Amino acid sequence: MKKVFLNLLKQPITNSYLINKNSSTLKKEFFYNLSIIFNSKNYLVSIKKPVNPKSQYTDTYAHRASQSKTMNLSFKKIANKLKKSYKPKLSMEIGSNDGVFLKNFSKKDIIAVEPCKNLAKITNKKGYFTYDKFWNVDLAKKILKKKGNVDLIYSANTISHIPNLKEVFKAISICLSKDGVFVFEDPYIGSVIKNNSYDQFYDEHVHVFSFIAISNLLKIHKLRVIDTEILTTHGGSIRFYVAKRESKYKISNFVKRIYKQELKKRLDKFSTYKKFSYRVQNSKRKLIKLLKDLKKRNKKIISYGATYKSATIFNYCNIDSDLIDYVIDTTKNKQGKYTPGKHLLIKPPCDLAKEKIDYAFLGAWNFAKEIMKKERKFIRKGGRFITHVPKIRIIK
Ligand code: TYD
Repeated sequence: MKKVFLNLLKQPITNSYLINKNSSTLKKEFFYNLSIIFNSKNYLVSIKKPVNPKSQYTDTYAHRASQSKTMNLSFKKIANKLKKSYKPKLSMEIGSNDGVFLKNFSKKDIIAVEPCKNLAKITNKKGYFTYDKFWNVDLAKKILKKKGNVDLIYSANTISHIPNLKEVFKAISICLSKDGVFVFEDPYIGSVIKNNSYDQFYDEHVHVFSFIAISNLLKIHKLRVIDTEILTTHGGSIRFYVAKRESKYKISNFVKRIYKQELKKRLDKFSTYKKFSYRVQNSKRKLIKLLKDLKKRNKKIISYGATYKSATIFNYCNIDSDLIDYVIDTTKNKQGKYTPGKHLLIKPPCDLAKEKIDYAFLGAWNFAKEIMKKERKFIRKGGRFITHVPKIRIIK
């Protein structure tokens, strides 16, 4: 019923940037095998053996959602849309990170859930009541008792991180009001297949969702999808609008359309995923060859964005400092550290042309447009970007 279709080999925890390369630090580095399975019963795509969330979402969690202009705008847009459409009295965000969504609400109208204590501290300090806990049935009951039903629950790039989805949806059904709406968005398996973006698989992305898989899982808890949207964020995401079966909402036409599309794309068939895995192996061969060829010609190559996604690529393709000189990233608490597994130094952004960089691998390919705009000078001076989506190429 659950069958492996892709083996991305030995991988580190993507968020565990190393503070130095001392032998004692390297010895402590944790690795696990990243194998991806397809469940032929409910069509869910997941990591075979997920890492324990308690070792991932700690008080040193590095990612800050507010770092990117694109994401700030996207959260503002959805917050305003949800407030206008559903006029919620009480809202809640699960996985509130550093408050990039919350800040679009008044402090008394929204509560937050964020298990990383360092992040929960930030939003609590700003005056947004934040539970520094994992989302589960116990917490849902506690919230129901203390605050009553919640009318709007929002979650971005969090639900797919939670191994036990049955518990997630059960907890939602406990505290959501009768006509309340649960909106969540996560990377979309349809986009992964289309873009060959196998780097969407890493320890935090325990599942990569399709509409058909989520519909199957929601049924058990008398919940259903009333609308969906396909988004460009994070290299292709899907947003689900979920309500109780007995709520007042009708199912949108788009829901019917995406259901048909997914069946047409055979997202319910193991063979689709197996074919994808052959394309992934091909992508690996081509990327290694390209980087080696460029290095032979003494080209200076860096990686742009110390993303979690690129950790999957570098570890799967065995790309280390022989091929990529260093990585640049705007996130202050990643700078000066080393990427997990392959230990590439992370530096602050620099003048790429001045540093005589020839090629920049787009680790943050999901922000390609924003980056290209910012790096016009580099491109004008002959610098080039390399990407692996949808196939290995130098962007001309
Ligand atoms: P993200 O999109 O969250 O990817 P992942 O989930 O795979 O980590 O991370 C983007 C990273 O890229 C983040 O660390 C910030 C960095 N970044 C830059 O360094 N420069 C930029 O111009 C942009 C847009 C992002």
